[in-house]
Amino acid sequence: MSSETPGMVTVRAPGKVNLALHVGSPDLTGFHPLLTAFQAVDIWDSVSVVPDDEMTIEIRAGFDVSSIPLDESNLVWRAHQLINEHLGEIPPSRITIDKAIPVSGGMAGGSADAAAAVIALAELNSLGPDTTHLRDLCRALGSDVPFSLVGGSAVGRGRGDVLEPFRIEQPLSLIIVSSDQTLSTPEVYRHLDVIRGDGKISVPDSLGDDFLHAWREGDAIALAPLLHNDLQPAAVSMMPALERVLDDTAAADALTAIVSGSGPTVIGLARDLEHASEVAAKLTEQNYRATAVQTTALGTHRSQ
Ligand code: C5P
Repeated sequence: MSSETPGMVTVRAPGKVNLALHVGSPDLTGFHPLLTAFQAVDIWDSVSVVPDDEMTIEIRAGFDVSSIPLDESNLVWRAHQLINEHLGEIPPSRITIDKAIPVSGGMAGGSADAAAAVIALAELNSLGPDTTHLRDLCRALGSDVPFSLVGGSAVGRGRGDVLEPFRIEQPLSLIIVSSDQTLSTPEVYRHLDVIRGDGKISVPDSLGDDFLHAWREGDAIALAPLLHNDLQPAAVSMMPALERVLDDTAAADALTAIVSGSGPTVIGLARDLEHASEVAAKLTEQNYRATAVQTTALGTHRSQ
């Protein structure tokens, strides 16, 4: 499908990292209450939709995407179903996903595709940008999908779906070290519960003034010791090789390295983009798939 296909709508959505992720004990629904610093990064998936006789999903990427389902269990297909159920009947669509965000990597790639599909299908079918409806649809698709929709920076609470936008003055520079392997988010949460055993754990009320100040100012030196991920011990326990990736990223001169979300992507923090590129180059020499990126203030939006 070329970008000239008549009637086609293309929407981009960013990947995310969690600069802080505090996880409480699961509630009665089985979900874990969170307090998290969501940060969109300058890595984008694009979703193109065009009406067709039947529903199809095609995925294009420079890496292995064979684990992504191409049927109703894909969130973009589910987005089509939910729009049909709640916003009005729409014809089947040919959906093409151009992937750059690592698959099952803890960077909300599937959620980004879902948010992009919601916007693209709404636009294609002239459903109007009623943001409340679209936000509710995104929430129904998954805990991270509302953030994928708005992007930028936000403090997340609830399941991660209750968002408070956060204004930052300066971007941060990161090294994204992606893995050939994947981790299942529900399994990582379950494993965390096993590691923790009995006893009720609550999330803190606030990310703390020091964290919020360093995040806002893009002060990587001050932020580095404050990065935090409660899911990291569970991810590392399920994939012990991650310990080495974390050590190697730190040894390549990143200010610090943590697991992104439920992993297995590892993020390193750098002073600036040049520093991030140097760290990424050192890791690439050691055969890691490492990229230097900056954070972005943008969210899901239609491509030109
Ligand atoms: O919301 P989403 O479908 O993306 O979540 C995937 C799984 O991750 C959930 O079924 C649940 O097992 C786990 N999860 C959780 N607590 C959250 C978010 C996700 O336990 N806050």
